Amino acid sequence: MITRDIQKAIEALQNDELIALPTETVYGLAGNAYNETAIKKIFELKKRPLYNPLIVHLHSKEQLKEVAKEIPEKAKILAEKFWPGSLTLVLKKRAHIPDLVTAGKDTVAVRVPQHLVALALLEQLDFPLVAPSANPFGSISPTSAKHVWNYFQENLPVILDGGDCSNGVESTIIGFQGDEAVLYRHGSVSVEEIEQVIGKIEIITRNDTTPDAPGMLSKHYAPKTRIILTENIENEIQENSGKRIGALIFKNQTKTAIAYQEVLSAEGDLKEASKNLYAALHRLDAMDLDIIIAERLPDSGLGVTINDRLNRATKK
Ligand code: TXA
Ligand code: MG
Repeated sequence: MITRDIQKAIEALQNDELIALPTETVYGLAGNAYNETAIKKIFELKKRPLYNPLIVHLHSKEQLKEVAKEIPEKAKILAEKFWPGSLTLVLKKRAHIPDLVTAGKDTVAVRVPQHLVALALLEQLDFPLVAPSANPFGSISPTSAKHVWNYFQENLPVILDGGDCSNGVESTIIGFQGDEAVLYRHGSVSVEEIEQVIGKIEIITRNDTTPDAPGMLSKHYAPKTRIILTENIENEIQENSGKRIGALIFKNQTKTAIAYQEVLSAEGDLKEASKNLYAALHRLDAMDLDIIIAERLPDSGLGVTINDRLNRATKK
């Protein structure tokens, strides 16, 4: 059921059921962070491997001490600056956080989302919510209630509709090595914004099978249609002539006529482009194309995040 009634979401969560949670990044598949029955349902419905830990969502910075301990100074500064918002911090966990949430690690990922519906819901619960993105493992993240419905239909009791996600890509994930911050996943807050606050950070972009942040798994965020990423759109269109081509473009429409195209931001605005990214990929994937040709964006600010997602989408 798609609904705007927060009460329905509260009832479902109190009965150990799952809901779709609107956030400013992407929709989450949310359950009670302290309830193992609910957490197991998340992994089952998403077909997510158990080694991939979940993000705990809080209603306020003050709630952080309930779930994490030994918080480094730089984490406090980042929380102060970016919460509520699209930044996830990986911190030492408190003992009562279930192992299922953290995949047995001694750390827990946490964030305070910025979406007013998410905050209103979290404030009315006496437990935090764990919420991975509300898509089957490996597929494109949802940025509208309709996207979530298309994936799960009635298998998800309550889809809480909070409109289209304003940021449109997942949160940035920061962990700590001692007191030093390390970036695990590019996201909705750019590296530049973070470095303005705490100085230079290390960026870890490993592609293991059991990585620190499987947002780093090489294949992820992928449409069903084959997708390639290029600097030279016109060239790729020529190379693929005869095929039914769709294109994902940053600013300017292609010169050559093709079956279908999505322009991310005619103004060339990276924030607008990231807001539109997943919805454009969902539409392209529904067009029965032979191939999607995606244009690489400028490699700065949110362009880095968008290129990261497009690059992972191209992997087999
Ligand atoms: O924007 C977001 O972060 C969205 C919304 C719903 O909040 N959620 C999201 O969750 O993207 P998910 O599950 O798709 O991605 C969570 C990422 C995974 O890459 C996971 O490995 C990482 O967070 N993670 C969680 N706990 C971790 C931990 N203890 N150490 C390292 N990485 C962790
Ligand atoms: Mg995800």
